[in-house]
Amino acid sequence: MGKIRVGGEPIRKFLIEHLADHPTDVVRLTAEKFGCTRQAVHKHLQRLVAEGAVVVSGQTRGKRYELAPLERWSRQYDVATGLAEDVVWREDVAPLLGKLPENVLSIWHYGFTEMFNNVVDHSGARVVSLALTKTAAATTIDIYDDGVGIFKKIQAALSLVDERHAVLELAKGKFTTDPANHSGEGIFFSSRMFDRFVIASGEVYFSHEFDEREDWILQASSASGGTLVRMFLHNHTARTLKKVFDKFTSDEDYGFTKTVVPVKLMRYGDDNLISRSQAKRLLSRFDRFKVVVLDFAGVASIGQAFADEVFRVFVAKHPEVEIVAVHASSEVKRMVSRAQLLGSGDA
Ligand SMILES: Nc1ncnc2c1ncn2[C@@H]1O[C@H](COP(=O)(O)OP(=O)(O)OP(=O)(O)O)[C@@H](O)[C@H]1O
Ligand SMILES: [Mg+2]
Repeated sequence: MGKIRVGGEPIRKFLIEHLADHPTDVVRLTAEKFGCTRQAVHKHLQRLVAEGAVVVSGQTRGKRYELAPLERWSRQYDVATGLAEDVVWREDVAPLLGKLPENVLSIWHYGFTEMFNNVVDHSGARVVSLALTKTAAATTIDIYDDGVGIFKKIQAALSLVDERHAVLELAKGKFTTDPANHSGEGIFFSSRMFDRFVIASGEVYFSHEFDEREDWILQASSASGGTLVRMFLHNHTARTLKKVFDKFTSDEDYGFTKTVVPVKLMRYGDDNLISRSQAKRLLSRFDRFKVVVLDFAGVASIGQAFADEVFRVFVAKHPEVEIVAVHASSEVKRMVSRAQLLGSGDA
């Protein structure tokens, strides 16, 4: 025999967490992970089916296992009727989410109320639709409004040549079209709280995800008018609101003083990052932060004028802003050092 006996609880938990990504081979995967027989794993799977947490489709070898939706709900609201995000949260959404760990509920509370408030305050929509799906592993909430469209609105406010450039402004943070009443934090933090956070509007699909690692995705889409926000979060995660907020605070102060900008987002529509004008677009509003971390993941190289504008000209003009480069390729590093050397007068 030589097999180790493992308590059923971790096996069932593992099954639930990996079913969605492995609908046909989850049994093999689980047996390997726990060093037990497939028959033993099958017994646990059958128990989950009996409990209604998992549904089976197909026959024998073609059998597929899926998480049963524990909750599937949708509703439309009239935006004109003085709709308040905390009322919708308390009366409709929170009861549907049901029992979840405290940290997970807090993330939902934050993300839902921020995104729903955006519809009420910024979208000009007549109708907003909510959809919620909860399985044993994860929960998804969609908020879809028939308003002006988020990227179009930002494009118009900043006179951007390309709708896609609006995504970069949201990723930087502190961008708002209504500075008298807002501070431009909702999307910045919400997008970093969830396992997946998507906005589709007009011709743009934007997504931030944590899988093995963090990734930012920007694609063309054919979404029509309005704005769709989709938030997806596992029901069990170690993430907390505080941990996410703390990442964007520089040492002594507790405010939102630090940002991390995925430079990769600039490449869409621009291909190569070479010119000073591209650099200036990247740099706009950097002076509102104490620390700006430029994340070069996915950027193979940058041009000399681009590097000079960011790492010498801007740095000389704004000594109070600290600019840090991370995940830079050797090629990018070389350009950065060169500009910094020129700036320090050592060249
Ligand atoms: N559903 C939407 N429809 C149209 N525009 C939107 C929508 N949601 C957000 N926006 C635009 O995106 C901007 C950024 O939104 P975000 O939630 O990050 O900040 P804010 O709402 O302005 O400030 P805060 O969230 O800190 O109150 C808004 O100022 C608005 O211009
Ligand atoms: Mg907001």
